[in-house]
Parts: sequence; structure tokens; C-alpha cells
Amino acid sequence: MLTNQSIGYMDAPVPKDIDLREAIDQLRKEKNAVILAHYYQTGDIQDIADYVGDSLALAQWAAKSQADILVLCGVHFMGETAKILCPDKKVLVPDLNAGCSLADSCPAPAFAEFVKAHPGHTVISYVNTSAAVKAVTDVVVTSTNARQIVESFPVDTPLIFGPDRNLGSYINRVTGRNMLLWDGACHVHEQFSAEKIQALKERYPEAEVITHPECKRAVVEISDFVGSTAALLKHTIKSTTQRFIVATESGVIHEMRKQSPDKEFIPAPSDKDACACNECNYMRLNTMEKLYNCLRFEMPEIFVDEEVRKKAVKPILRMLEISERLGL
Ligand code: 13P
Ligand code: SF4
Repeated sequence: MLTNQSIGYMDAPVPKDIDLREAIDQLRKEKNAVILAHYYQTGDIQDIADYVGDSLALAQWAAKSQADILVLCGVHFMGETAKILCPDKKVLVPDLNAGCSLADSCPAPAFAEFVKAHPGHTVISYVNTSAAVKAVTDVVVTSTNARQIVESFPVDTPLIFGPDRNLGSYINRVTGRNMLLWDGACHVHEQFSAEKIQALKERYPEAEVITHPECKRAVVEISDFVGSTAALLKHTIKSTTQRFIVATESGVIHEMRKQSPDKEFIPAPSDKDACACNECNYMRLNTMEKLYNCLRFEMPEIFVDEEVRKKAVKPILRMLEISERLGL
């Protein structure tokens, strides 16, 4: 997957005299490429992207795109999902080292064993997984549609949910289900401190705490609103509250500020002192320079084994169909 050749291209020197925004724009037009960026990218990448969205929106746009090249400014599983949906397109990510601790917490062979050990269960996997995990999955979900997709199964259906234990247990609580959970987590969302958020709440009693369901239960339980990245953004636009404590990756605050310039957004503190823990170090590997190089050299490219792809596409398409039916 990761070759020395592709790493070399990622870090190739960028000519000093060019305007990166203009150069990226020109290359994208010349090559009929679209740039899809997740909300956790840096502000400059979000600003130049054709589309900015959460994991569900990125998959939906990729599936519908007429472009020849899709540049996924996000992490590896997002590029892989786009490639699974669009095998005939060239799919690029600016930095192929942009992995995901949550996807890594669910190795495909171990997950396949877990599934085998629980026959008769329907397997629901979060999109933050490798193609090989999706290949042993019945339906993929994102944080935007997980609750509705779980609820679309009759209450007595035995379900496995992987890999995020926090999202899985949140959905168990709000739906009254008893899904078997894989024991994985995201290192960014797990590190928020309920005690420090509580202290901030006492300092700003009128502020709303808004939280991604990948966070630990203690954080979710002291929150005023819980939702996916896109749901948190929508909530900040609709709410009349002026100040928000944001417990998710801080990249989304860029769009929150753009949409609501008069409101204040405070990144929620972590349980460690003095770190930028609410920034995903994988997401932040992508830079404007690497985005430029990736369009210039059309590398690094995502490839998925065709046998795995044919199995993995089914649960992703099933998710897209259910989401469309539910108007998500
Ligand atoms: P969403 O994009 O579904 O909110 O997921 C958050 C995330 O951690 C993506 O990596
Ligand atoms: Fe993965 Fe967490 Fe980074 Fe999202 S924020 S890409 S779940 S490590």
C-alpha cells in the first residue's frame, strides 16, 4: 500500500514562487479532479475543497462524482471507501500515512474471528474500518446514520457493532439494544476530560457542551447535545446559544466559526496537560503542499484488492441506500 516511491512524491519540494491556492485550482481543473475534505482538515484545505463534509457526505459525494480523479483530504479509510465505490476512478490522498487509531484498533483477522464466534448476528461496522473489515460486514454506518440504521432492524435481531465501543454503547443506550461491541476507540475522542469540561461549564454556565458520540460515556452524560460532526455543526447554526464547548476534533470549529461568526467556540479540554490532543495527528498530516504534489504527480493513489472490494462494496451501498431512504 505505502511505497517509498509514493512517500517521495508526497514530500517533493514545492516551487517557492507559486501561489499554492491558484496552482491547486489550476491542476484540479486541468485534470477534472474534485477535492473532498473532511471537517477535521486544516482550514486552508477546507477552504479550497470542492466539498467539505463528514464521513457520510464524503462517501455520498464520491459515489455521485463525475470527476476522473477524487482527492480525499482525510484519512486512509475515507480514500479506501471512495475507491471501493468508484473502482474506475483514480483516488488520491495527500499523505498515505494518514491512518486512523480507531480503524487500527480493529484488525481484520481478529474481527473476522469475532464474527465467526457469534453466528446468527448481523454485523454493523462503522465506516472507520479497513476494506477487509467491511468485507465481513453486513451494513456500514457513520455517526450520522448509525442510530437510524440500528433502529431499522427488528428489536430482537442479534447485532454486532464495531469497532468503536463508545459509539456502540451510546447507541445501545439510546435505542435500548444490546449489541455485542468490539473494544476499539479513537485516541482523539477518548481523551476529553469530563472533569475539566464540568469546570468549564461552571465558568460559562450559559454555554452548551456539544459532543461527538465517539467520546467516553462520562463526557456524553454531561453534554447538552450529542451528534455526528455534521449534526454538531447544524446544531450550532440553529441554536440561539452564543457559546459552545466543543468535544470533538477541533478542525470542525473552522466551519462553525464561518457559519456563525458571532458565536464563540471553545475546544473542550483533554485529560492531559498542554497538548493539542483534540487535533487528530493523522488528519493533520495533510497539508496544502502535499495536496499540490498529489494533484501534480497523481500520487499517492489508493488501491483495493478486487476480491475484497467486491465484498466491501455491498455493506457500503446498503448504507447509502438506507440513508437515502431516510433522507440523511
Ligand atoms: P464523522 O465524520 O461521521 O462525524 O466521524 C468522525 C470521525 O472521527 C471521522 O474520522
Ligand atoms: Fe480516526 Fe479519530 Fe482521527 Fe477520526 S479523529 S480519523 S476516528 S483517529
